[in-house]
Amino acid sequence: MNVTLLLTIMVVFCVILGIEAQGRKYALPDEEDMELENQLKVLNKPPIKSFQTKSGDILDCIDIYKQPAFDHPLLQNHKIQMKPNFKREVEINADTPVDHVVEFKTKFGLPNIRCPPSTVAIRRTKKKDLVNTKYLSSSFTTYSTTNIPYKPYHFVSVEPSAGQIYYGGKTTVTTENPIVGPDQFSTAQIWVQNGPVEEINSIELGWAVHPMLFGDNNTRLFSRWTADGFKNTGCYNMLCPGFVQIHPEYHFGTTITPASIYGVVSYGFTYSVRRDPQSGNWWFILGGSDESIGYWPKELFTHMRSNASVIRYGGIAGGKIKNQTPQMGNGHFATWETTKSCNMRGMKIYNYKGEPKLFLASRVKLRQDTTTKCYDQKFWGWDPDQFGLTVSFGGPGGNCP
Ligand SMILES: *[C@@H]1O[C@H](CO)[C@@H](O)[C@H](O)[C@H]1NC(C)=O
Ligand SMILES: *[C@@H]1O[C@H](CO)[C@@H](O)[C@H](O)[C@H]1NC(C)=O
Repeated sequence: MNVTLLLTIMVVFCVILGIEAQGRKYALPDEEDMELENQLKVLNKPPIKSFQTKSGDILDCIDIYKQPAFDHPLLQNHKIQMKPNFKREVEINADTPVDHVVEFKTKFGLPNIRCPPSTVAIRRTKKKDLVNTKYLSSSFTTYSTTNIPYKPYHFVSVEPSAGQIYYGGKTTVTTENPIVGPDQFSTAQIWVQNGPVEEINSIELGWAVHPMLFGDNNTRLFSRWTADGFKNTGCYNMLCPGFVQIHPEYHFGTTITPASIYGVVSYGFTYSVRRDPQSGNWWFILGGSDESIGYWPKELFTHMRSNASVIRYGGIAGGKIKNQTPQMGNGHFATWETTKSCNMRGMKIYNYKGEPKLFLASRVKLRQDTTTKCYDQKFWGWDPDQFGLTVSFGGPGGNCP
């Protein structure tokens, strides 16, 4: 090839590239892109201080009165609630020892990151997060998957008897780190729900390994809510206005360490989601010392303003690839050997006064939507000596119908 020809080719190439670049520069961002940019503006408030974490997140300290929740049209007259109207349970309730879970070692988030007074730590949202969450919210609805040709996730759960009224749930869950692919996720969670499936009001809360949401394989605190069967309202974590955060440090997306070690030791943490008997807001309470993280204001909900009709305890595992679901729990099937499978113990419900109560073991229902070759669960009933009401669950996943 002679030099002139090569030059010519290069020039032509550059001209084409130039036009490309120009075209892009002057092209209007399409509607969807604008919408995402607008959402980012709403979600990422000007921080008073920021931290960069080792896992690549940016944590912004946001004025507690200017957090994204208050952009929600239903919260324009909402008066922020700085603490719940129930007693810390550590004061009133010493009846469920949760031995064998080494809770005091569990760490949420990172050392030396604490926002200044009157601010709350919120994980900064990237455009990629919104794109992923859009996909997720269109595919991962509660029970119905009518809009996609296959079921992208599976669940196992125990449910106290139906036909009752609940005001929240509590458990101590072991922290696990299941192996998931880049387009997969796996959770251990409590569901609190009310309403018909198409309009279901739901709060889901627990830990998740979820690279699509978080960009890595860490076990992290996660939540999801909706007030209309996942159609137009709600989101994961704080990816839309709704959840009001109170805590200056712990936040959705916070990394939970360490994970339990198979056959050696269980690590875990206690948490609850419970309705405030006076305000009607649904609080997220975390850890052995009952830290108030924040709440979902009752204004967000339609069918869950006064109570829940369903409480579930269990896990979800799924992904984008047809019939390929990842590990759930620690990847092992349910066993009574506490260090060998994921478990939830000390399960409780709340009554209308906000008091923790046991539920009837004999009326518990076990549900799962795939074969026991993929995942299973064992409900152990009430163990008065050690664990209270306990369920173990999990499995390797794989090609799961
Ligand atoms: C997460 O784990 C999966 C499976 O081991 C691996 O393919 C992937 O690269 C990991 N992702 C990250 C961000 O480390
Ligand atoms: C429980 O919630 C449902 C749905 O919002 C409502 O119809 C019912 O009256 C509530 N019951 C009590 C006792 O608050």
